[in-house]
Amino acid sequence: TRPLKVALLGCGVVGSEVARIMTTHAADLAARIGAPVELAGVAVRRPGKVREGIDPALVTTDATALVKRGDIDVVVEVIGGIEPARALITTAFEHGASVVSANKALLAQDGAALHAAAEEHGRDLYYEAAVAGAIPLIRPLRESLAGDKVNRVLGIVNGTTNFILDKMDSTGAGYQEALDEATALGYAEADPTADVEAFDAAAKAAILAGIAFHTRVRLDDVYREGMTEVTAADFRSAAEMGCTIKLLAICERAADGGSVTARVHPAMIPLSHPLASVRGAYNAVFVESDAAGQLMFYGPGAGGSPTASAVLGDLVAVCRNRLNGATGPGESAYAALPVSSMGEV
Ligand code: NDP
Ligand code: HSE
Repeated sequence: TRPLKVALLGCGVVGSEVARIMTTHAADLAARIGAPVELAGVAVRRPGKVREGIDPALVTTDATALVKRGDIDVVVEVIGGIEPARALITTAFEHGASVVSANKALLAQDGAALHAAAEEHGRDLYYEAAVAGAIPLIRPLRESLAGDKVNRVLGIVNGTTNFILDKMDSTGAGYQEALDEATALGYAEADPTADVEAFDAAAKAAILAGIAFHTRVRLDDVYREGMTEVTAADFRSAAEMGCTIKLLAICERAADGGSVTARVHPAMIPLSHPLASVRGAYNAVFVESDAAGQLMFYGPGAGGSPTASAVLGDLVAVCRNRLNGATGPGESAYAALPVSSMGEV
């Protein structure tokens, strides 16, 4: 069987781990997919940077030329941001590639148009890594729970802010010190304002609500309040009440089923609640549905290796689809429910 060619766009915290795992797990990946997977090119911004384990001959600064080559089966987009990521993904579909992306900011803004482009060209758009790092959440919502009716998705979906709040609460660390550590560990976005002002969590809430409720939810639909105002005094008050403070994302279907709400804000959590014991950059998400009841998803929510795990899972799925001449589930936003940013708190 001919090798499936992969173009890696971005080789930073996540991309370098994707490349490493593609190399170290090459034999297993080939066996699971049914064909070898070949890294055909790596697009970056700084070509001179030393990148361990990457053949310098594969490195290019011309991402557009790479996705236009015509022989690429899968484009893995781990650049981040809106442009050039959006144009590159669209060009990838036009040139016959499927796409795996970790880009929640882009998906929350333009997910519908990107899904439409994928569908138009008969290709896949997968993005498990865009929400909650390594935790399988998109696929369970999109596939495993597709026959159920999800009513609520609630939890911690940003590793950086959970890391900061946990440090502030458990060690008395200052906000800036904890943020610097989260950045050094590769958890934070390129501009950490996205994390601490909750744009990142709001983007994830939009993606989750869209999939869970089969409707379209964009970043602007989500009520958003960051965690920069949370102080040591707030933690002391919370502790006196037997609570801690977490940044929560809450997506709910209205009781009459006619609308949905999505919001992200700091919240007091009783210490007895499972979310109170989510430490460091871990995430945890509860999903409540009619038939299944309450499910909890828990695991590493940020960082290069955990995020690459989710990217690789998508890569295997997309490659299998390529070999079978199939595509996976598309957007499935048929409900067109009105979305408001606040529900009952
Ligand atoms: P990094 O900033 O570490 O890496 C970005 C990569 O993209 C770098 O290799 C950079 O090149 C490259 N790049 C930037 N601009 C361009 C361009 N115009 N053309 C070609 N290459 C470019 O980001 P992360 O790896 O942390 O994040 C990547 C994506 O994954 C983002 O969408 C992020 O939101 C998402 N994500 C990140 C997680 C994490 O824990 N870090 C978790 C889940 C998702 P160079 O190396 O030369 O600078
Ligand atoms: N900056 C993000 C976070 C990365 O801290 O959760 C994972 O999406």
